[in-house]
Amino acid sequence: MTTPRTPSGPTSAGEASAESFIRRAGRQLIFAAYGALRAVKLYPVENAAVQKALAELTNQTKELIGSEGELELRMSGEFIFVNQTRLRLDLDNFASFSHLLSLFRACGVGTVTVGESVSAKDWLIFLSLIQAPGVDDPVERLMQLQAKLESAGVTVFTLAPPAEPGEGNKEKAKERAKRTYAQSVAATRELMSSVRMGGSPNIKKIKRVVQGIVDQILNEETSLIGLTTIRDYDEYTFTHSVNVCIFSVALGKRLGLSKLQLYDLGMAALFHDIGKSRVPQSILNKSGGLTDDEWRLIASHPWLGVLALFQVRGAQELPYRSMVVAHEHHMKRDLTGYPRPIRPRQLSMFSKIVAIADGFDAATSRRAYQTVPFTPAQVMLEMRDNPRRGMDPVIVKAFINLTGIYPVGTLVILDTFELAIVHAVNPLQDMLSRPIVRIISDAMGNLVHPGELVDLADRNADGIFQRTIIKTENPERYGIRVGDYFV
Ligand SMILES: [Fe+2]
Ligand SMILES: [Fe+2]
Repeated sequence: MTTPRTPSGPTSAGEASAESFIRRAGRQLIFAAYGALRAVKLYPVENAAVQKALAELTNQTKELIGSEGELELRMSGEFIFVNQTRLRLDLDNFASFSHLLSLFRACGVGTVTVGESVSAKDWLIFLSLIQAPGVDDPVERLMQLQAKLESAGVTVFTLAPPAEPGEGNKEKAKERAKRTYAQSVAATRELMSSVRMGGSPNIKKIKRVVQGIVDQILNEETSLIGLTTIRDYDEYTFTHSVNVCIFSVALGKRLGLSKLQLYDLGMAALFHDIGKSRVPQSILNKSGGLTDDEWRLIASHPWLGVLALFQVRGAQELPYRSMVVAHEHHMKRDLTGYPRPIRPRQLSMFSKIVAIADGFDAATSRRAYQTVPFTPAQVMLEMRDNPRRGMDPVIVKAFINLTGIYPVGTLVILDTFELAIVHAVNPLQDMLSRPIVRIISDAMGNLVHPGELVDLADRNADGIFQRTIIKTENPERYGIRVGDYFV
């Protein structure tokens, strides 16, 4: 008798089998988690049943991460998703599913990402904590849970609150974005001053901040990008790092990077100017021209950054990619920037992304030695059309796709003589020059606050665009603070 051969080959079959693998392994993972939860609750830790259940859960986790590269559990409504694949619910897994869902809901957990190095002990601590009694408010509970995990030294689980997309939750999303932004600026300030004082900063906090930014950008991009327009002069160094992180992550998402890659990229972006904490502040903030020596000091911030990263604590693994980015972000594609490399080299993908985010944010901000910033649209064209800027044209193109020709925060004059501020890129890809804008003054120049949001792709009954951008303007000329329209 011959064995029937299964046809090998087409990708769709491969994908289908990958999906069925996740479904099967995902279900077993939920069973194992349920079993372990019960065992941990019923017996003392030394009990063989507890040990066995934890070992099984750990093996199952490792098998999934081994073949998938990552493991993310997401609870949404009555469903559980494993790495974006929805698990099938049926009678024999109903109890374990709903038990897990209600536990996570009570703890305010929407997604759990599990790191590769997870151990039985990590699972034990995590499972004990989520079924321990706690406060009623899920938001509060989640924060407590994170703090407890951290103090127990468990770092393999990344928890995030449930995503709440949809119209009704716009305000909440905005609030969340503001919180994420403020926390990020605070953590960056702490990081930089710690390096300045010669201490070794705590990298865990920064990791959490970056994960917050990545999660937010994956769920709801526009709120955070809007916040990059709040440019506080005194806080420039910190807000700049946070803005570069936001732009880089959003750009990385467009370029198709995975969540874990985005975490890495976000860290590298946040650290890109860390070398500046080793340059005296009097030089960084100097408003007049710089002497050659002062300029040399500023231009040494890329390699000072590499040294500072060696000093960063909490990473058994050195933040290698961050070092590369700190070193390369001013080098330019043709290597005419600084530091000048001795041998020819190819800049890393992350360096190219961060260089563009950095160039954009720096050129649109007001700084000591640049009192009138360029408009975002001018900067965008300059980056695209002037090869001396040394930007990667493909990534600049992706950046323009992300922000539109008129990036968020640009002040524009419309053909109706109204003034408007660009609020978001148009979701229609062929309408890059027709963003969503907020009208801030009428044709007579009377300011309206907050002003209505209009889509410049809207046409009237004759099919003619109702409003079109004539030109961009410098908000300072009108005494307008763009950031005010995003808070
Ligand atoms: Fe820099
Ligand atoms: Fe920078």
